[in-house]
Amino acid sequence: MLLLLKINRMGKYNFDEIIERKNTNSVKYDAMAKYLGVTDAIPMWVADMDFKSPPCVIEAIEERVKHGVYGYSIRPQEYYSAIVNWEKRRHGWDINPDWISFSPGVVAGLSILIEEFTQPGDKIVIQSPVYFPFFQTIDSLKRKTVYNKLKLENGRYCIDFDDLVSQIDPSVKMLVLSNPHNPGGSVWTKAELTKLSEICIKNNILVVSDEIHGDMVYKPHKFVPYASISPEASINSITLTAASKTFNLAGFSTSIVISENKKYLRGFERRLHIPHLHMGNIFGTVALTTAFNKGEEWLSELMEYLQCNVDMVNTFFKTHLPKIEVIYPESTFLIWLNCKATGYSDKELNDIFNNNAKVAMSPGTIFGPGGEGYMRMNIGCSHLVLEKALIQIKNAFIA
Ligand SMILES: Cc1ncc(COP(=O)(O)O)c(C=O)c1O
Repeated sequence: MLLLLKINRMGKYNFDEIIERKNTNSVKYDAMAKYLGVTDAIPMWVADMDFKSPPCVIEAIEERVKHGVYGYSIRPQEYYSAIVNWEKRRHGWDINPDWISFSPGVVAGLSILIEEFTQPGDKIVIQSPVYFPFFQTIDSLKRKTVYNKLKLENGRYCIDFDDLVSQIDPSVKMLVLSNPHNPGGSVWTKAELTKLSEICIKNNILVVSDEIHGDMVYKPHKFVPYASISPEASINSITLTAASKTFNLAGFSTSIVISENKKYLRGFERRLHIPHLHMGNIFGTVALTTAFNKGEEWLSELMEYLQCNVDMVNTFFKTHLPKIEVIYPESTFLIWLNCKATGYSDKELNDIFNNNAKVAMSPGTIFGPGGEGYMRMNIGCSHLVLEKALIQIKNAFIA
């Protein structure tokens, strides 16, 4: 065995429990063959975790299920207060309930914003390598993607401001920010966000900040909501966020849209109402409210658990496969692996990880320019499953 860390946790919550997810209609497990062409691999690709949601959330859902009537529902005042209080308590961001709207998903929200606030042919900036639905959505809606590639500096992804400025022209209307960044793991600092906001405001570029990973930040890093950095940034932006990554609730299709700017919020809502997507999901409302009101203790234990997983992966590659560089994440449960020094092509890397090691990961190339030679590993699983995956990887590389 290769147990890399002596883990001695005395927590209240059991993240070691291995829960069978096969045959539960899980994308990660039951659609792996469809999307990655492998059946018997350990799934470490699509971004959800293998942990149960906090017990308080499960109990609240059970209570709602017991009522037995699941007609159309509203989002009560308590839902909005939960979001306002969460942003204030966790991130020091003061927002009002009337800045908040609903979207059935972050990507759905992005798509609506692009349609409402840009025209076909307009340019939209993204910072690749990045979460691929950003450019897929831009392309599908016939807008043009501008790739402001990130720079890797001393093992951390940074924004290339010179490149950004050099690509701006009057047809650039929007910038979609991944804050913190998926897959690079950078938690953007106030200084970085301030510099970005100055460029965007000066050039009339609307910022859409996707903050879905903002609650999953490792110590000592501090998540800064983009709109919190200045009144000007707040007026020139829309934030998309959710409780779905943090508390493993993606199946409830409930996410949050925030903007102080009434023009943006009302424009978003108008377009959301056209296909009647504003109704939402009863259970999503209950889950989000409970998670934000009562889930903090669970979240801090989760982050400690994930930190052990990060260290386990880092130690493993340094010791056993030093040609693979772990981009040490400042946030979230997705680890970006730089495999360039192995000399393998993208196809070969995909084959080694997914087919030989039987550890199903997302190939770096799907994240756009800058993703070549990388693989993305989802470590939202028990230590034991992670260790098994690492052993399989080691065996595949030395075979
Ligand atoms: C940066 C980022 N944004 C959005 C999403 C998906 O959000 P939703 O399922 O709410 O569309 C993900 C999921 O992996 C993500 O990583």
